[in-house]
Amino acid sequence: MQADVGLELAARVAAAVKSSLDLDITAAEALIRPSSRPGADYQCNAAMGLGKRIGRQPREVATAIVEALDAGDLVEQPDIAGPGFINLTLRDSWLAGHMTDLLADERLGVPETDAPRRIAIDYSSPNVAKEMHVGHLRSSIIGDALVRLMRFQGHEVIPHNHLGDWGTPFGMLIEHLLDEGFGADHTISDLNGFYQEARKKFDADPDFAERARQRVVQLQSGDEKTLELWHELVEESMRHFLKVYQLLGIGLTPEDNYGESFYNPFLADTVTELEQKGLTRVSDGALCVFPAGFTNREGEPLPLIVRKSDGGYGYMSTDLATVRYWTGERGATDLLYAVGTPQSQHFQMIFTASRDAGWLGPDHRAVHVNFGSILGEDGKMFRTRAGGSVKLIDLLNEAIEQATKVLDAREDNNFDATEKTTVARAVGIGAVKYADLSNDREKDYVFSWKKMLATDGNTATYLQYANARQLSILRKAGQAPGPGTKVILAEPAERALAIQLIQFPAAIQAAVDGYTPHKLCTYLFDTATAFSKFYDECPVLKSEGETRQSRLAMCALTSKVLTLGLSLLGIEAPARL
Ligand code: ARG
Repeated sequence: MQADVGLELAARVAAAVKSSLDLDITAAEALIRPSSRPGADYQCNAAMGLGKRIGRQPREVATAIVEALDAGDLVEQPDIAGPGFINLTLRDSWLAGHMTDLLADERLGVPETDAPRRIAIDYSSPNVAKEMHVGHLRSSIIGDALVRLMRFQGHEVIPHNHLGDWGTPFGMLIEHLLDEGFGADHTISDLNGFYQEARKKFDADPDFAERARQRVVQLQSGDEKTLELWHELVEESMRHFLKVYQLLGIGLTPEDNYGESFYNPFLADTVTELEQKGLTRVSDGALCVFPAGFTNREGEPLPLIVRKSDGGYGYMSTDLATVRYWTGERGATDLLYAVGTPQSQHFQMIFTASRDAGWLGPDHRAVHVNFGSILGEDGKMFRTRAGGSVKLIDLLNEAIEQATKVLDAREDNNFDATEKTTVARAVGIGAVKYADLSNDREKDYVFSWKKMLATDGNTATYLQYANARQLSILRKAGQAPGPGTKVILAEPAERALAIQLIQFPAAIQAAVDGYTPHKLCTYLFDTATAFSKFYDECPVLKSEGETRQSRLAMCALTSKVLTLGLSLLGIEAPARL
């Protein structure tokens, strides 16, 4: 089966360019784009550039391509518009046949990659003995969606949680734990409170501060009792994180933990290697690498500190060791880091230094999948009403509460208690995730319950409703359209929906190519919108015979696309809403 007709058309155009103009172009250079011009499904924009390249009129070039194009099985006779756009209209018979094929394909046309990569992705990565904040929420949601998308494409994806579980704060945290002990049920109910109290004592009480410093030394020298206490802190924090992951439906488990402490044993070798390769220089007593191209405002080169003047290692050394470990020990081809934009320069410096050190070769890809901030409705940093930082667990529980309210407000609300709980969870958590994923990740976005739970607009709720409606139609029809169902595309709205449905593979590819889940969101929204138009204009249950079967098939296919698309974003699509 044709995986993606856009790619197929591109390949055919490239062949036509070769045979008519004797030019080699790649499929991408065929510049095939879905078209919104009336009467064209796709358009080829290559003639303008090619014309320039060979010094011929673009229209003439377009004509030559069209004459040589062998795509009569897919498209009608193409026409040429304006300076040399080639308009391509899919044959109705091909499109209808393809709908029938898709109905029987559980991958809905999405191909499996023939060049699988081994992708190590760093996401979530909260800090031990601190609550996760909204930055970690974004990282968790975006990272999880990318894991799902890339796995679905057939890549090997290794998630790793780069917990902040090492370093000087642990001295004070352990001493504070010794002073206060765990709570009655051996827990720390308020991680942030715990951290802040420790910090307060550290600042106010010189004796405590000295103990804390001693404790860091003990931790680093591997003192057993100290390590045990450290371990308890890590585990207790992990319990908090797991609650959040569970509520969010994020697959990270303790097995995915590769915290800063994990790289400890590799740090000395990492630094030695940098020294041996002549990449280091001592500056102000610290051993540094100065990757080319990074300077401060005064134009002075910026250092990556690989060994502090006191001999200790920090965040930068650890991230260098991370690159070395994942490419060297684990054979990763791609390294992705879902971390907020403020750390951009850090990662660019790490990548540059890693290339210099040979840990990243020409075939490796290292990408900082950066993201902006979540803002409150006042446009400032997202905070609680009291001005404190928002506890994720509270936020997620509120999401479910808000969703329950939405469900309760419905007149036809007839869920039993269990179903209501599951559906409210799907709607509430889905809303939070989708609000994040549907925005270009590099931009900030405003967190608004009202907006994210709206039943129309580009929201999870809208998509979930659309899917539930499709499934409800199928339930009412009493029988699901079988695999071989003949699809008839008589009405413009039917055809428009079909054109939308065949673009699912391209949408997934686009979301993966730029690590931009919002492209899949936009696609799903457009699909639900095309469905809504179809539903308004083409009676389904009231139609008869082959038309009825065909329209039921369109409902089934749309529901499958929405359900799979949402699930690749980590969002559930309840059967009833
Ligand atoms: N723990 C860090 C933070 O909360 C994020 C770590 C990101 N990953 C990395 N390899 N540096 O800011």
